[in-house]
Amino acid sequence: MIPIAKPLMGEEEKQAVIEVLESGQLAQGEKVTEFETRFAAFCGVKHAVATSSGTTALHTALLAHGIGPGDEVITTPFTFIASANSILFTGARPVFVDIEPDTFNLDPNKLEDKVKTLRARRSGLKAILPVHLFGHPCDMEAIMDIAKRYDLIVIEDACQAHGASVNGRKVGSFGTGCFSFYPTKNITTGEGGMITTDDEEIAERARMIRQHGMRKRYYHEILGYNFRMTDIQAAIGLAQLEKLPRWTEQRIKNAAYLTERLQCLPHVAIPVVKEGCVHVFHQYTIRVKGDRDKAVELLKMKGVGTGIYYPLPVHRQPVYLKLGYDDDLPEAERASQEVLSLPVHPALSRDELDVIVEAVASLERGVG
Ligand SMILES: Cc1ncc(COP(=O)(O)O)c(C=O)c1O
Repeated sequence: MIPIAKPLMGEEEKQAVIEVLESGQLAQGEKVTEFETRFAAFCGVKHAVATSSGTTALHTALLAHGIGPGDEVITTPFTFIASANSILFTGARPVFVDIEPDTFNLDPNKLEDKVKTLRARRSGLKAILPVHLFGHPCDMEAIMDIAKRYDLIVIEDACQAHGASVNGRKVGSFGTGCFSFYPTKNITTGEGGMITTDDEEIAERARMIRQHGMRKRYYHEILGYNFRMTDIQAAIGLAQLEKLPRWTEQRIKNAAYLTERLQCLPHVAIPVVKEGCVHVFHQYTIRVKGDRDKAVELLKMKGVGTGIYYPLPVHRQPVYLKLGYDDDLPEAERASQEVLSLPVHPALSRDELDVIVEAVASLERGVG
């Protein structure tokens, strides 16, 4: 079976972990600081603050910006639930805006309409939380322009988009960035997250929130959490970060090969890459015209692992229905019915890519 994702661990990661284990400094220490410095440089920002996961990075970033009860934050309904849940954790309310059908990302036109409506109602709108889904960056120039005109904070969920860029500028450097290092992500630390920012004050608040509100040992200025990363995780992250440019290049090459071979098929729609964007292909996501469940089954029979990200938009999840959400967001609903992600990770061989292509081509007979 060709897996949909494959974490790659080499000798470098093993040696780095052994070194930390032998040092006796297991919890957050120098390795975390070094990982933060390197990751900030990678994103082209002044500060990076490591956390225990992408979810805690989002939660911490929102709190660091002072988001809380009474506030509203606009986000996408077509994402992993953590993007929206992190807003709920703060006591604020997520407001959903529909997606662009081609990139699956927040639609800037619909975003501006929603901002205008909420502002006219004098609602508590404070921030926008765009998600660079599947590794394709959002239209950050349009989003930043709206944010500037309406005085809104921008928190980028870049959990799936390490290294993606718009006109040469990396994601996580437009607003406050949040990344995940979960094992399926483009690089991993087992579990882990990172916040990126140019704002010294936000970085300082984030450092405090992740460490029980402490700046000075055992003096707790604000309410905080234990959202720390360990030195063991950071050591793995440092080794992975070295390899990230090579892996990203391979993901992009794999995606180009799949696109070249799949673009002529009438029963699937292949992913787009918008002008000026570097799409880092966390996922290679197609739309299937026809019976998607059957497509999943047929691909499995041919040895191709797939993923459905995501089968139910956030506003339709039971936990959100219970909160009273009943939005009509047709593009998110349609995407959740049609999307299918194919393996694109850097460990794929040319033969495996050909197996994927042949399997997808053969679907025409099965799903029409
Ligand atoms: C878009 C998005 N946001 C947030 C998260 C949360 O990250 P984590 O699983 O590291 O908490 C993930 C990853 O799972 C994600 O894909």
